[in-house]
Amino acid sequence: MERVYLVGFMGSGKSTVGALLAARLGLDFVDLDEAIEQADGRSVAEIFKESGEVRFREIESSILRRVSGRVPKVVALGGGAYADPQNREFISRRGIAVYLETDLSTILERIEIDASRPLFGSPNQVRALYDERLPSYRMAPVRVRTDGLDPDGVVERVVGALQSS
Ligand code: S3P
Repeated sequence: MERVYLVGFMGSGKSTVGALLAARLGLDFVDLDEAIEQADGRSVAEIFKESGEVRFREIESSILRRVSGRVPKVVALGGGAYADPQNREFISRRGIAVYLETDLSTILERIEIDASRPLFGSPNQVRALYDERLPSYRMAPVRVRTDGLDPDGVVERVVGALQSS
């Protein structure tokens, strides 16, 4: 297995599942948002506020390429990274994308509206963004449903799906 990229909406469990999956597979783990924050020296929220979303997406794309490296690993993407066609194309050449498919109702229950996720606004805004993102997420070659499962349960499903992919 080369690189596994976890795709999905905010609150779908990409970071939590990613860390567990990496441990399970004996691979390194990279959280893309954290790598962005380390490289830039600002939080994701600060980058959005001070430099805007367009700049954030440029940084995100460049750090995605940087962290992909040579060594096999698990990468938890931010919720918007896979919406970019060039990122999707890059990921398809470097490894396999796994979509953590999570109902909007589960996401709305899980995520607090706070300043740390600049794009997580009112329920109506979140719904619109979720609908907009779905077609991109569904382009991932592997899809795993997460509703009703704890993180370990999701890891088992991802491992199974990767084995049969
Ligand atoms: C975003 C999701 C966030 C983060 C940024 C933008 C998005 O990551 O990259 O706030 O566009 O959906 P998580 O999905 O890890 O919350």
